[in-house]
Amino acid sequence: MDNTLFKPGALGDIEISNRIVMAPMTRSRAGPGDVPLPLHAEYYSQRASAGLVITEGTQPSPNGKGYARTPGIHSDDQVEGWSAVVDAVRARGGSMVLQLMHCGRVASRYNKDDDAETVAPSAIRASGKMYTDAKGMVDFDVPRALASGEIADVIEEFRHATANAYRAGFAGVELHGTSGYLPAQFLSTGTNKRSDRYGGSVKNRIRFVIEALEAMGSVRGMSRVGLRICPGNPFNDLSDDDPAETFGTLLDAVNTLGIAYLHVIRLPDGPVDNLALATKHFDGPLIVNDSYDFVEASQVVATGTAAAVSFARHYIGNPDLVERFAAGAELSGFDRKTLYTPGAAGYVDYPRMAQNDA
Ligand SMILES: Cc1cc2nc3c(=O)[nH]c(=O)nc-3n(C[C@H](O)[C@H](O)[C@H](O)COP(=O)(O)O)c2cc1C
Repeated sequence: MDNTLFKPGALGDIEISNRIVMAPMTRSRAGPGDVPLPLHAEYYSQRASAGLVITEGTQPSPNGKGYARTPGIHSDDQVEGWSAVVDAVRARGGSMVLQLMHCGRVASRYNKDDDAETVAPSAIRASGKMYTDAKGMVDFDVPRALASGEIADVIEEFRHATANAYRAGFAGVELHGTSGYLPAQFLSTGTNKRSDRYGGSVKNRIRFVIEALEAMGSVRGMSRVGLRICPGNPFNDLSDDDPAETFGTLLDAVNTLGIAYLHVIRLPDGPVDNLALATKHFDGPLIVNDSYDFVEASQVVATGTAAAVSFARHYIGNPDLVERFAAGAELSGFDRKTLYTPGAAGYVDYPRMAQNDA
């Protein structure tokens, strides 16, 4: 088929077998110790025909955990669990990138180890509630503001987690820079009230993200490091006075680093045209996301605007999304009730298309 979507390509040093990427999706099924299970290997390997599989958000440290049953990449057991997942995906010809998600203030102590803390740029609680297994819905924690001298330790968590990701066999790592989590908390004026070199001016507010990327790149090169952004995203009580300025300045700096790719989520009703901003300030490969279908995805890669398109929700119910697109087959929906519940139901039980659908 003469459609660029099905052609191999590269994102920096990360080779992709086609331009259809599985987007990161938290599914809250990690086992004790926040370890990925054989169930995860089954789930991800079912989806191995994606040109690239990006994992669910994964905490680089115990403090980085926000939600119930999310996996980590800071302990040896977690590395071993992920290694089995990567092996299973590779055995089916797939390639994987690990998404590092440090939730910062978007967290509850009831979801964390006893000795873990909720930290953020400033001690401002996010409005809203989150689910915990122990207490049901609870208020977000009031975070402790990181001291200036502690920020290097958090950056080091990203480096250590990246080294662990390569030990597990991942082809690269992606920094989760949106949805109100720690990197976004540093970037945004509503959550960053610091007066040290990590707060105040836009140059100071972007420093955390740049240093995290540099730490991740120090392990095996910047050309295996991706960044995910969604300028103007208000999720998890995030607000910024001028997202166009914040992200324009951020991307000008990121552009000099030589990262593998920028993963941009568009936001049609948002304050910024995110794709236009990305192409203006970043020269490297783009993965674009949010509500793409086959036709629009084919167009955006055919015109060269994006190197690849990522799909999240379609991947829940369509493990063989690539084959379905190629066959023009119908797509299945999914059950919302089992998005974040433990176990196999609604996770590994979505069938491939029947032969006669093709
Ligand atoms: C169940 C679920 C979990 C998600 N978890 C994450 C996550 O861990 N990290 C992330 O960057 N985005 C996460 N997202 C956002 C998706 O990656 C994606 O940006 C969004 O669903 C829009 O893409 P789509 O229209 O292809 O679904 C999640 C989305 C869903 C539906």
